[in-house]
Amino acid sequence: MAVEKKDEQESESSEQVVNPWEVSGKIDYDRLIDKFGCQRLDVSMIDRVQRLTSRQPHVFLRRGVFFAHRDFNEILDAYERGDKFYLYTGRGPSSEALHLGHLIPFMFTKYLQEAFKVPLVIQLTDDEKCIWKNISVKESKRLARENAKDIIACGFDVTKTFIFSDFDYVGGAFYENMVKVGKCVTLNKSTGIFGFSGQDCIAKIGFPPVQAAPSFPSSFPHLFPGMNNLRCLIPCAIDQDPYFRMTRDVAPRLGYRKPALIESSFFPDLQGENGKMSASNPNSAIYVTDSAEDIKYKIKKRAFSGGQDSSKKQEGVGANLEVDVSFKYLSFFLEDDAELEQIFQEYKEGSMLTGAVKARLAEVLTEIVERHRRARAAVTDEMVDAFMTVRPLPRMFE
Ligand code: TYM
Repeated sequence: MAVEKKDEQESESSEQVVNPWEVSGKIDYDRLIDKFGCQRLDVSMIDRVQRLTSRQPHVFLRRGVFFAHRDFNEILDAYERGDKFYLYTGRGPSSEALHLGHLIPFMFTKYLQEAFKVPLVIQLTDDEKCIWKNISVKESKRLARENAKDIIACGFDVTKTFIFSDFDYVGGAFYENMVKVGKCVTLNKSTGIFGFSGQDCIAKIGFPPVQAAPSFPSSFPHLFPGMNNLRCLIPCAIDQDPYFRMTRDVAPRLGYRKPALIESSFFPDLQGENGKMSASNPNSAIYVTDSAEDIKYKIKKRAFSGGQDSSKKQEGVGANLEVDVSFKYLSFFLEDDAELEQIFQEYKEGSMLTGAVKARLAEVLTEIVERHRRARAAVTDEMVDAFMTVRPLPRMFE
């Protein structure tokens, strides 16, 4: 009996959990696509992006980091016809520093903004983190501004980008949309989507319409006056999908278009165990504030290796790349396709050792983090104000 109980618990704990607040277990992305009901992004769509934008698709598209979508094909159809759209993404400011996983949607969104020449709204859900993380209102607002600096450092164009914090911006037309969304979702329905329980405070239950509202252009009358039919494309990791399943479900009832999504897999944690890199576990994350020494140390000591435990054995058997975290990280961030292919072959066959792969990874990540640090140091308070001022963006489609 006791053994049976333990088996049951083990299979439950290895079960994948993916929602906006928790990602754990071994993630089976095919199963997730089925469960959530989104579509796989296929090669023909990536070729289409290349054709329409006349530039090489982003490395995150070429490598399948962004792997799922909802109605992205409709965005491409509309773009081909000459119709416009806007981008919407966000960040829940729960920590001082972003980790490398957080950079993924922002790097990708910057590419989309440049490639398609479209405006972008970025929501800082300081309210969400205040509710879930037990952080004070004042502290959440401070973190939102700090995180805004990291986001701006990713290189967004101020003439096409509006960043807002919920505590500052919610009101007016945005609030009207929140109420309209909220009226369409019963407590039963939201419990089904988000797993709320009777123990959760009502602030949690009231939150999802806040993340839904930016999917509708009428929430931004200073940006999109008279453009209520403008399409919206949301780049994010797949953990955010539940919010937008709800949003898409209610949109037709409000006479609004459903937002489209393009969704990424998770940048894994250093031990490769917890599904995604998480800001709350410093042992498992590489932060944009880490020094070159920190990065080298973390990769050397903590990155789970699929290589063999002696160089002799590695030369004979080669590495298991399915579980090797350093190789996975390189496949996200090493841009040179030919070099990645060479590392893949040599490491798999055994002529390349784990130490060499880790050393190359440390170089690649250090370069990204140092570039980010320099860019962030150049972001002034005036620049943050400029991005966050409620204002029209007259050149947003140029
Ligand atoms: P947050 O702050 O948890 O995460 C910010 C963005 O980073 C993605 N992300 C990751 N991507 C790849 N690998 C990881 N390990 C990883 N960890 C996080 C998230 O999916 C997200 O895109 N509620 C949101 C804030 C938000 C939002 C949005 C996000 C508001 N509106 C619209 C996306 C789109 C949040 O707390 O994100």
